[in-house]
Amino acid sequence: PVLVVDFGAQYAQLIARRVREARVYSEVVPHSMSVADMLAKDPAAIILSGGPSSVYEAGAPSLDPALLEAGVPVFGMCYGFQAMSQALGGTVARTGAREYGKTDAAISDTTSTLFDGQPGAQVVWMSHGDSVTVAPEGCAVTASTAGTPVAAIEDDDRRLYGVQWHPEVLHSEQGQRVLENFLWKGAGIEPSWTASNVVEDLVETIREQVGQDRVLCALSGGVDSSVAAALVQKAVGDQLTCVFVDHGLLREGEAEQVEKDFVEATGVDLVVVDARERFLTALAGVTDPETKRKIIGEQFIRVFEQAARDVVHDRGDVEHPVKWLVQGTLYPDVVESGGGEGAANIKSHHNVGGLPDDLQFQLVEPLRTLFKDEVRQVGLELGVPEVIVWRQPFPGPGLGIRIIGEVTADRLALLRRADAIAREELTKAGLDRDIWQCPVVLLADVRSVGVQGDGRTYGHPVVLRPVASEDAMTADWARVPYDVLATISTRITNEVEEVNRVVLDVTSKPPGTIEWE
Ligand code: XMP
Repeated sequence: PVLVVDFGAQYAQLIARRVREARVYSEVVPHSMSVADMLAKDPAAIILSGGPSSVYEAGAPSLDPALLEAGVPVFGMCYGFQAMSQALGGTVARTGAREYGKTDAAISDTTSTLFDGQPGAQVVWMSHGDSVTVAPEGCAVTASTAGTPVAAIEDDDRRLYGVQWHPEVLHSEQGQRVLENFLWKGAGIEPSWTASNVVEDLVETIREQVGQDRVLCALSGGVDSSVAAALVQKAVGDQLTCVFVDHGLLREGEAEQVEKDFVEATGVDLVVVDARERFLTALAGVTDPETKRKIIGEQFIRVFEQAARDVVHDRGDVEHPVKWLVQGTLYPDVVESGGGEGAANIKSHHNVGGLPDDLQFQLVEPLRTLFKDEVRQVGLELGVPEVIVWRQPFPGPGLGIRIIGEVTADRLALLRRADAIAREELTKAGLDRDIWQCPVVLLADVRSVGVQGDGRTYGHPVVLRPVASEDAMTADWARVPYDVLATISTRITNEVEEVNRVVLDVTSKPPGTIEWE
């Protein structure tokens, strides 16, 4: 792999993604990892990320010079560039020339390894207060800016490269090409990380892992569990059984999509459990958001466990009991980022409301090396229907946490209608890929006066919550064009009788979460 050494801040994962976009496999490792451990991974190249520290400050994450002497090609960015320059005998200082944001860079050699085939003047994205004032011996200086005479260094003999800016950020016009030049030319790596190769590798790994055992997968209808299931299906075929729990909190057409489209495309053995009544009964009278979430999670586990026992009974045989459970865990969920003291940011995955610790299965997590966009590519490669591959995130507890107030069958029906209209219009306007997701929220206990036809109405408002986001950790409210909002509003108030008002949520996250509960 290409190792991206994380010096803090949020750049490392983005760099790893850009490397994958250059069709080269990459992994993020913390800067606290020893050089020996890094080399044990047999890296094809090493990239040093940016970070918030100053290299000369006490306690700043340091770079072991041994890493630069191992014969592995290295590319430093921003802080990584400074750390490597210092380790190689150059000088880093606070010059007073701070550069933030888009900056003009002059490339002095457009035939160099990093800049070959690029324009001599390019806009780069800077964010630094320190600068390399004296380049390390043996390194050619190939770029500069008004405030930073040493903005890029290259040493083809030792295969060491660095830039002061952030090539991983889209504002750096040639950023991806600089990175690709390093990977393909500087480090001489063949770009072979493609969806079809990935599928082949993962299928092989899954086969080795599960052998002849039976495998179970809780299918939620979302991208991750669907693609994970399709992969396992390709690997071990009818050793896999998928369980889809219809908890009645799904959106319009969702259960059908899984039952028909997904099964047709992948041929998986699917067990659908209709648990709608059970969930409604359990949720009766409950309004507190956390209580709702707990109930939904618990009910899910009970239903799933029962289904698992049934599958073992119906499909398993004594020699091949169900041993494995498929989980759609993604790379960002497992990557241990290097905030120093092993500060791991491992999130627990709860696509389906959380599975119990004492579940008697081992986990198969075929997507744990992949980013979301790669999961989609793999899904397409496997023939998973596009409606599923491009589905926007939908929370495990479903519409249950989008009805503010008690969840009832009637309320679910009307929210389902309003949600379907909003989705239909957003799709029609071609906005699906611009918008991260657009929850529609029913304020079930709020009523307001309206007038429709000749009469006064006393109905409920629904809230549109369109958001733009990279990863759901932060989000901004999406600027959906007014005429699209107008169409959604008109259609919902016309077609969903109990709704007489449509309002727009214009809160970013933070402070508001994406979901209302
Ligand atoms: P919040 O509301 O926390 O949501 O800003 C962030 C993202 O997570 C989704 N979400 C969930 N997904 N199980 C899930 O699988 C859950 O319990 C859950 N709660 C929120 C939400 O839709 C958004 O994409």
